[in-house]
This record gives sequence, C-alpha cells and structure tokens, in this order.
Amino acid sequence: MTRSFLLLAFLLQATLHISAQPPPPAPLASPPSPAAQLPAAAQEFLDAHNQARAEVGVAPLRWSPQLAAATSRLVRYQRDRMSCNFANLTASKYGGNQLWAGGAGTAMPPRAAVGAWLKEKIYYDHANNTCAEGRRCGVYTQVVWRNSSELGCAQASCPKEAASLTICFYNPPGNVVGERPY
Ligand SMILES: *[C@@H]1O[C@H](CO)[C@@H](O)[C@H](O)[C@H]1NC(C)=O
Ligand SMILES: *[C@@H]1O[C@H](CO)[C@@H](O)[C@H](O)[C@H]1NC(C)=O
Ligand SMILES: *[C@@H]1O[C@H](CO)[C@@H](O)[C@H](O)[C@H]1NC(C)=O
Repeated sequence: MTRSFLLLAFLLQATLHISAQPPPPAPLASPPSPAAQLPAAAQEFLDAHNQARAEVGVAPLRWSPQLAAATSRLVRYQRDRMSCNFANLTASKYGGNQLWAGGAGTAMPPRAAVGAWLKEKIYYDHANNTCAEGRRCGVYTQVVWRNSSELGCAQASCPKEAASLTICFYNPPGNVVGERPY
C-alpha cells in the first residue's frame, strides 16, 4: 500500500513584496529559557530553525513560552473549530509559518515540519534577494530572518481529518518590505 504524504506550506506574507503587519503594540518580553528546561519538541523546533540560520550566518532564535502558548491556543482552535485548516494570520502581530500534513497519521516530527519549510531554500537567491519565478520563498526567509529573535511553535493532531497542523510564530516578524532577511 502506498502511503502518500501531502504537505502544504503556507505563509502569512506570501511574497517578499507584500507588506508586513504594523509593529506589535507591546510584545511580551520573555526571559530566555535555559535550553535544558525546554520540552523535547520545543528543543527540536528550535534546533531545526537554528541549524538553518547558522548555515547562512544568522544568530539563533530563542524559545518564547509566550509565543508557544499563543500557537498552542491557535492550533487547538483550528483543530476544534476550523476543521484543521490553516489559521488566518492576516492580522497577526507575529510572523507565522504553518504546515498542514495529511496521510501521515497523527504526528509530524518538529524537525520534519521545519524541513518542509526549508525546501524553499533552493529557490531563494541571496545575491539579488529574489525568489525563482513561480515559487515562494517567504516561509524560508522567515525561518532565517535575522531580525526575528523569538520562536514559539505548537502542533495539533486532527484525528477526524487524519492530519496534523503545525504553527510557528516569530517575533519581531520577518518579511519586512524592502528589507533583506540577512
Ligand atoms: C483573514 O482575516 C482578515 C482580517 O483580519 C480578513 O480581511 C480576510 O478576509 C480573512 N481571510 C480569510 C481567508 O478568511
Ligand atoms: C537573480 O540572480 C539569478 C542568478 O544568480 C538570476 O537567475 C535571476 O534572474 C536574478 N533575478 C533578478 C530579479 O535579477
Ligand atoms: C527589525 O525590527 C525593527 C523593530 O523591531 C524594525 O524597525 C526594523 O525595520 C526591522 N528590520 C528588519 C530588517 O526586519
């Protein structure tokens, strides 16, 4: 039996040319958590992001319990009320990456979710800060956006839809018009 996986990456600011949301009024400041105290999934999300950032010389993100709590509320809402669909992040004050994975049972390992976002990397040309024609690079550029310093992520399994939803928030948000990711 063939097990097929369907992965869809989605981005709040779909291209480098679309405006970012206005700056957050009062972002919650969170003291950096000692890595040793992070839950395993959080550490895996963080490591996967920071490895991609290190590859292009960008400083690591730190885990934000506040952002993680916000994504946790949101994925549960999407699971319980929105048939596991992508959240509408248009008005979000944070940068956001989302992944919907179907046919994969109930779990999507954090590293695999981030790996799906990193697939865009090959389409991004840093020399002239452009994305290959017909491609999107904004999910990748958010992952490596230098100015983003905090990360929080959560996942929900959606048994009814046989899918899972992963959401990460970034603060300050990336993909600022006219700026380079790094
Ligand atoms: C998302 O929310 C914005 C307002 O925040 C709204 O204008 C837009 O229509 C919504 N998009 C969808 C697909 O519901
Ligand atoms: C950016 O550079 C690549 C080659 O490095 C080229 O293929 C592409 O057309 C350039 N894009 C723009 C908009 O100049
Ligand atoms: C970095 O964030 C500051 C505010 O926190 C903003 O003014 C600036 O435009 C951002 N720069 C980039 C490259 O994202």
